[in-house]
Amino acid sequence: MAINQINQVFDLLKDEIKNVEEELLRNLDSEVQMVNEVASYVFKSGGKRLRPVFLILSSKLSGYDGPRSIVISGVVEYIHTATLLHDDVIDGAMYRRGKKAANRVFGNDITVLCGDFLYSRAFVNLVKDGDPDVQMILANAAKTMSEGEVFQLVKTANFDLSMDDYLKIIFSKTAVLFSSCCEIGAVLAKKDMDTRNRLKEYGKLIGLAFQMSDDILDYLGDENKTGKKPGTDLKEGKMTLPLILLRDILDANNKEKIKEIILKDEPNEDDLNYIIELMKKYNIKEKAEQFVDSFIEKAKEQLSIFDNSIYKDALIYLSEYVIKRDR
Ligand code: IPE
Ligand code: IPE
Ligand code: MG
Ligand code: MG
Repeated sequence: MAINQINQVFDLLKDEIKNVEEELLRNLDSEVQMVNEVASYVFKSGGKRLRPVFLILSSKLSGYDGPRSIVISGVVEYIHTATLLHDDVIDGAMYRRGKKAANRVFGNDITVLCGDFLYSRAFVNLVKDGDPDVQMILANAAKTMSEGEVFQLVKTANFDLSMDDYLKIIFSKTAVLFSSCCEIGAVLAKKDMDTRNRLKEYGKLIGLAFQMSDDILDYLGDENKTGKKPGTDLKEGKMTLPLILLRDILDANNKEKIKEIILKDEPNEDDLNYIIELMKKYNIKEKAEQFVDSFIEKAKEQLSIFDNSIYKDALIYLSEYVIKRDR
C-alpha cells in the first residue's frame, strides 16, 4: 500500500495514537483543578500530534514496538504543549488550534504556570521510565528550546537577521524536539550510534522544514485551516524565512519601507497586506518552498540505511507532507 495521504499515516498508527490521547488525559492528575482544566482545554482543542507520530514511526522503523513509545510520546507532547502555552503568552496569540488561545481564556499568569506544570509532569514520567539516554535527550531538548525562545526575543525586530541566525532559532525552538523524537525511536530499539544519528539528523531536518513551513503559512496560509491568525510573526517583529527571502531581493526603497514596518510596535492590516502583495509579486512562496525542499531531500537521504517497510514509507511521505501541509 503506497502512502500518499496523511490520514493513511494516522490509520496505520490508529491504536497507538488512541493510547497517546488517553495518556495525555490520564496524567492530568493535579489536586489543583485549575491545572487540569487549563491542560485539558488545550489537549481537547486538537493538535496534530505529529511529534508522537514521528516518535512511534521511528521506533517501529528501528524494530521497537512496545508501550514505552506511548509513555514517551505523552512526555514529548506535554513538553510541546508547555512551549505552546508559554509561546502564546509571549506572542500575545489570539487563537490556537482554532480556539481562543489559553492566555485569553485563563489569563497570562495561570497559562504560564500551567505550562510549567506540564513541563514538570512530563519529567516525572520520564524519570519513571528510567532510561538515562532518553532522559538526557529530552532534558537537553527542553533546555535548548528555552534558549531558542530567548535568542528569538533577543533578535526581535532585527531586520538584518542572517540566515544562519534564523536557522539557529528554528533549530532550537522547534527542530530539536522533532530530532529528539526520531532519535528516541532508535534508542528504544537499542540501535547503534550510526542509526541513532541518522534518525536524529532526519528529525532535525524535518523539524527545520516544519518550522519554515509554519513561517510561510504565517504570511500566506489560510486562517481557517491553520487555526492561527496570519501576520502574527510580523506583529511580533520576527524575521522569518519568507521575509528574509523578500528582504534579500528588494530594491532599496521597498527594503526601507519593510524595515520601518518591522520596527513598528503595532503593524496594521495595510502593512501586512503590503508585505503579502510584495511576496506574491516576487513568488516568495515558491522560492521559500524550493529552499525547504533541499532540507526535505537531505532528510530522506538519512533513511536510506533502513530496509523498506510501511514505516519507512510513512516517514518518507511525512517528509513531503511537512511542506505541502496547510495547517
Ligand atoms: C506549532 O506546532 C508550533 C510550531 C512548531 C510551529 P504544531 O503545528 O505541531 O502544533 P499542534 O500541536 O499541531 O497544534
Ligand atoms: C514555534 O514558533 C513555537 C514553539 C516551538 C514553542 P511560532 O511562534 O511560530 O509558533 P506558532 O506559529 O505560534 O504556533
Ligand atoms: Mg507563536
Ligand atoms: Mg508560527
